Amino acid sequence: MLTEEQIIQNEEEYSRLLMSTGRKGIDGLLRHLKENTDFFTAPASSKFHSNFNGGLAMHSLNVYKNFKSLLQLKDIPMDEDGIIITSLLHDICKCNYYIKDQRNRKKDGKWESYDVWTTSKSLTVPLPHSARSIRMLRGFIQIKFLEELIIFYHMGPFGGEDFEYRNLLKQVNEQHPQTLLFYTADLISSYLDETSEA
Ligand SMILES: [Fe+2]
Ligand SMILES: [Fe+2]
Repeated sequence: MLTEEQIIQNEEEYSRLLMSTGRKGIDGLLRHLKENTDFFTAPASSKFHSNFNGGLAMHSLNVYKNFKSLLQLKDIPMDEDGIIITSLLHDICKCNYYIKDQRNRKKDGKWESYDVWTTSKSLTVPLPHSARSIRMLRGFIQIKFLEELIIFYHMGPFGGEDFEYRNLLKQVNEQHPQTLLFYTADLISSYLDETSEA
């Protein structure tokens, strides 16, 4: 769980990084996230990593730090603006997606209600996870080919089960190692750096 102060600090850090890219249209995208979406208060998942208020922005910042470290560790080049754009925006498809709901459970013989996160069943952009983020981004900024590959394949083997997807993933990981490091940074953030709440 994050305090109100931590949520505000993360929003400031996120905004500062995004604006530092100087990418044309980035101010409009940031304004959109702040004014029309729940991005800075949304969870990163409903049941798993960072499933609490502000989890999505915190997860994005964790991916930024881990991705940058892995690129340095393996001495693989990537422009700073590309690291920021991919890390901070790879999961924007999750804004306006999670809904707080209530369930009942019996505890020590007594019924009590508790909060759960569920997901929206009617998406305005009905595309799968990665493709939805790319589509949402493109309404505001242009992204480079490598950035598109990184975001599209950020789920690694969990992004698709068909033969063609798996073949392309292998090819892309070999030819553009940034994609493999990004997938790894996303996993490290979700499984090692972040917790979930029951
Ligand atoms: Fe994701
Ligand atoms: Fe992610």
